[in-house]
Amino acid sequence: MENKVLDTLLQRRSCRKYEDRQITDEELNAVLKAGMYAPSGMGKQSPIIIAVQNKEIRDRISKLNASVMGASSDPFYGAPTVLVVLADNSVGTFVEDGSLVIGNMLNAAESIGLGGCWIHRAKQVFESQEGKELLKEIGIIDPDRYTGVGNCILGYPAKGGQNPALARKEDYIIYVK
Ligand SMILES: Cc1cc2nc3c(=O)[nH]c(=O)nc-3n(C[C@H](O)[C@H](O)[C@H](O)COP(=O)(O)O)c2cc1C
Repeated sequence: MENKVLDTLLQRRSCRKYEDRQITDEELNAVLKAGMYAPSGMGKQSPIIIAVQNKEIRDRISKLNASVMGASSDPFYGAPTVLVVLADNSVGTFVEDGSLVIGNMLNAAESIGLGGCWIHRAKQVFESQEGKELLKEIGIIDPDRYTGVGNCILGYPAKGGQNPALARKEDYIIYVK
């Protein structure tokens, strides 16, 4: 079946190498809009997206993320934009809601020629004292209300940063017709 959306869904790959230049506001906003229009349990829109392009803040989040792993390298692979997705943990579907936001944003990024990747450990980062202080600094009054779901990194893909898709496992689908 010929369809551009389906092509995008099949072509998207995680990108782990980026050019050293920022994406445009138009691109950023297109990706954010796709995120905001993701489905959410009972339409409650539990997630929030913190769009980080300030280098100092980006690097602070990167360091906190690395420290969760006990690593010192940049877990964001040099990507200049980090979209941190947290969600209101009083909503029963907050993890699913936040995950769909990230999925939409990764596919939107692919559709406009950006590279992207889900980077984990947002939960641990933003339940730490330093993470909560950072959230307060950027204007979130009640950081305890939000749990980190994941980070969607974005940038222009550099050569060699994407691997081909693995073959899909044989028993992925069970047809019941
Ligand atoms: C929940 C989740 C967590 C992930 N965490 C990371 C991560 O911390 N670092 C990373 O490099 N990739 C991470 N990824 C990307 C996966 O490794 C990647 O999606 C997978 O290898 C399949 O490759 P593809 O995205 O190119 O299809 C994560 C993906 C998901 C869905």
